Amino acid sequence: MVDLRSDTVTIPSEEMRRYMMYAQVGDDVYGEDPTVNILQERVAELFGKEDALFVPSGTMSNQLSLKVLTEAADEVIIEADAHVFYYETAAPSVISNVQFFTIPSENGEMPLEKIKRAIRPDIYYFPKTKAVFIENTHNRHGGTVISIEYIKELRKFCDDNGLLMHLDGARIWNAHIATGIPLNEYGIYFDTISVCLSKGLGAPVGSLMVSDKQKISKALKWRKILGGGMRQAGILAAAGIYALDNNLRLIESDHKLAKYFAKAIAEIEGITCSPDSVQTNMVVFKLDDKVEDFKFVNECRKRGLLLSSIGDNKIRTVFHIQINQLMADNAIDIIYETINSFLD
Ligand SMILES: Cc1ncc(COP(=O)(O)O)c(C=O)c1O
Repeated sequence: MVDLRSDTVTIPSEEMRRYMMYAQVGDDVYGEDPTVNILQERVAELFGKEDALFVPSGTMSNQLSLKVLTEAADEVIIEADAHVFYYETAAPSVISNVQFFTIPSENGEMPLEKIKRAIRPDIYYFPKTKAVFIENTHNRHGGTVISIEYIKELRKFCDDNGLLMHLDGARIWNAHIATGIPLNEYGIYFDTISVCLSKGLGAPVGSLMVSDKQKISKALKWRKILGGGMRQAGILAAAGIYALDNNLRLIESDHKLAKYFAKAIAEIEGITCSPDSVQTNMVVFKLDDKVEDFKFVNECRKRGLLLSSIGDNKIRTVFHIQINQLMADNAIDIIYETINSFLD
């Protein structure tokens, strides 16, 4: 089976498992797991920040960030297709008691004039606008990179308007590899950052919230409240250390394969795909109106290819550490045969 549904589907390699097996561990709720501590220090340093906190998921690191940046009844400005808004089960209303103001965009970059208009006047019957959330790379826009120029402008804008900034950097690794921008440069512009080990880096579990000492110590308390104290978590943190040492540099080949795949399927009748829009490891393509996306996905599954339908007759494919050239070619063949079986 070729699985292009997501970069979250990867299975740890033999070497990663071996590295995890021999990790030194201790009770992390006492702060005594040496492997967790090494990972936290390393990721904080990579982003040029004071501290980091290992948590079970990207959802938890986003939600902890939101918790430490806001107070109840605040409002946060976020792109309309952002993961935090779209897929995190209304957690902001439950954990932080805040609401979002959503702004649609072409590629994840909300126009600054629209953000300006969204800021609430300082009158008691309005919520207080507290922060702006950015997602880089942007999942629902197809792995698009938020440009560093935009991020710089937005930071200045936020400083001028007293707003805090959070980065959902589940795939910041892909943005870093695609642009060459150092991770610590991203660190300059955000108050809090969430990064995932379980996407392009290929670890089985884990994310980190990265920030200053004060915010991380508040987040530590909230991690415990949410049941995220994980005791001998060094076994999992070891996978993250292994992934940073070995898998980060492999992300470039995911990007190349995505581009190769996009160019090939753009040639297939019944499929609309723009290879130029492929910036990282995701390729989104649209099916001919005569082909229903869920039937197409089912037929591809029968032929050995797993795909995700994302609405509007569009399919998302994601390239990751377990997809090689042969599998990409196989996927192209299956898509060609399947679409022809519908159009014949
Ligand atoms: C952009 C983005 N942010 C956050 C998450 C949440 O990560 P997790 O599934 O570990 O909660 C995801 C998951 O796919 C994601 O794509």
